[in-house]
Amino acid sequence: MAPSSYTRLVLAERPTGLITESTFRKEVVPYDLKADNKQVIVQVDYVSLDPGSRIWLDEATTYVEPVQIGETMRLFAIGTVVEAGEGSGFRAGDLVSGLLGWTEYVVIDGGSVAKVKVPEGATFVDFLGPLGHTGLTAYFGLLEVGKLQPGEKLLVSAATGSIVCQIAKSRGAKVYAIAGTPEKCAWLENDLGVDKALNYKSPTFQEDFINSVDRFDVFFDNVGGEILDFALTRLNVNARVVLCGALSEYNARRSMGLTNYIKLLEQRAKIEGFIVSDYTEQFPEVLEYLSRLLLSGSLKRNYHIVEGLEQAPKAFNLLFSGHNTGKLLAKVLRRKNNNLRLLAFLISQPMCLGSFMAHYFEC
Ligand SMILES: NC(=O)c1ccc[n+]([C@@H]2O[C@H](COP(=O)([O-])OP(=O)(O)OC[C@H]3O[C@@H](n4cnc5c(N)ncnc54)[C@H](OP(=O)(O)O)[C@@H]3O)[C@@H](O)[C@H]2O)c1
Repeated sequence: MAPSSYTRLVLAERPTGLITESTFRKEVVPYDLKADNKQVIVQVDYVSLDPGSRIWLDEATTYVEPVQIGETMRLFAIGTVVEAGEGSGFRAGDLVSGLLGWTEYVVIDGGSVAKVKVPEGATFVDFLGPLGHTGLTAYFGLLEVGKLQPGEKLLVSAATGSIVCQIAKSRGAKVYAIAGTPEKCAWLENDLGVDKALNYKSPTFQEDFINSVDRFDVFFDNVGGEILDFALTRLNVNARVVLCGALSEYNARRSMGLTNYIKLLEQRAKIEGFIVSDYTEQFPEVLEYLSRLLLSGSLKRNYHIVEGLEQAPKAFNLLFSGHNTGKLLAKVLRRKNNNLRLLAFLISQPMCLGSFMAHYFEC
């Protein structure tokens, strides 16, 4: 029993700074989706709100094509296959992750989504957290780009993305985190075991930094701007600066630039950007490693979940005001007829019912 219509959020106009009420348009469209032999139809369960995707809304091509006006907002999401082409490699009831977008339903090539098998100790939403692009980004940035060694001093900005701090602790590094509220700093120190968390909004931030961190070996930078510029003055010899993100710049029309870059030369240091999708071939083995960390209790995670797809645009700016308190997600709420459709499928496939229900209600 298919629904008669479904909701999606499309880009209505390009923002010039933070997104506004007119950036996205809600569309309720007839459910006329068809999957060909290699495609699947996915009912989306949770969508991720990722700050880096803000630059996909600008006209210029970055490392991906921009989202076009009228196109469904492209973002990572997890969902359930409700219909599968015979050559897609999937069956109805499979849990999947991928760039499904801000929509209740999507037709997508089977080759563009990953099958999710929720391991012991994890939940389905973890595939947008430590077992998704967030965890993979932390791992590759820290170890492949930053080449963090045991005993080294690591600095992490926008440390709400706490996975980096925890992988580093599990590998014997000394971890210094930067966050924007005393509550976030306390959580990083007390719950995650970070050696010292520093509030970058404190008037004594630079002084506190020099007194506690002094100099560091690896900087996992999510912010750019003034924090990065200051950090360049505190490099150890042969330090590595990992450019993971630039939260302070995504909404700006012009970059503030770096005034202290000469310190890289003086300290024989490196600065290197990366995009997690460069490491796709290594994803399966790293996901196994991250699952083991999760199961051992070494990876705590925190989600900030807003209820309803329609809330996603408004919630997006929390990422830039600092008002999200964990990995920001929107839960797609089920309408009555959609639930009936899923139920009809599950009753027709009792083999899938047990494992599906277990995963579904864990979230
Ligand atoms: N390279 C890649 O392939 C890749 C892939 C995925 C994500 N990323 C990057 O990873 C980073 C983290 O992403 P996430 O989804 O996990 O987000 P997140 O950690 O939840 O980031 C949001 C937090 O960043 C802080 N922040 C926002 N603006 C800031 C500013 N101007 N200065 C300092 N801190 C600021 C705020 O916390 P406070 O309260 O502390 O200010 C906010 O709560 C982003 O930079 C993203 O672009 C990179």
